[in-house]
Amino acid sequence: MTVKIAPSVLSSDFARLGEELAAVEAAGGDWIHIDIMDGHFVPNITFGPAVVKAMRPHSSLPFDVHLMIEPADPFIAAFAEAGADVISVHKEGGPHVHRSLQVIRSLGKKAGVVLNPGTDVGGLEYMLDEIDLVLVMTVNPGFGGQAFIPAVVEKVKKVKALTGDRPIHIEIDGGVSTANAGLLARAGADVLVAGTSVFKGGTEADYRRNIQALRDSL
Ligand code: DX5
Ligand code: ZN
Repeated sequence: MTVKIAPSVLSSDFARLGEELAAVEAAGGDWIHIDIMDGHFVPNITFGPAVVKAMRPHSSLPFDVHLMIEPADPFIAAFAEAGADVISVHKEGGPHVHRSLQVIRSLGKKAGVVLNPGTDVGGLEYMLDEIDLVLVMTVNPGFGGQAFIPAVVEKVKKVKALTGDRPIHIEIDGGVSTANAGLLARAGADVLVAGTSVFKGGTEADYRRNIQALRDSL
């Protein structure tokens, strides 16, 4: 399976979001990963649906929206309308994650469930019919530039054993670099979120080189 690279705009220059989106698309990114943080579920605040809507005309790539908000349910429709293609909710993002996943699908979007580093795969087997993606966190969510947690690689293998041949993406988020991309792909991952490792340098030429380096390391 071809591994997709999903640059995370959390590491981009927010004052030039439109240009950054265009640059990272020209540089070869596959999906745009957008981190939504509420200052409550995670200790940081980013942006809401209005900003996602403003970003939409600046990219033709799928928008992969990672909701780090609790409760998530009241905002799912707004992010769908803003232009999200994939919407992922944390297992802890509300009392009924299964229902949240159904709501995302009912809006015509791909549904993802997110597992924090300390969250077990337990229960995933009962969500397989409702999901298009499992997002496995390899850092505790809230900030870019954190160190990759190697113990989570075993969990990626467990997720892959559960999803089997189903058309369910396994996405990794946090500390992805040329040092771990290959082992993550071998463990079953097919979408790699990369913030710092894509946006370092700050120019389109840097992004192209950084994305190519990730691909070459697979
Ligand atoms: C962390 C976010 C990540 C973040 C990853 O809470 O969910 O998407 O942007 O950044 P890096 O790749 O720098 O670890
Ligand atoms: Zn994320």
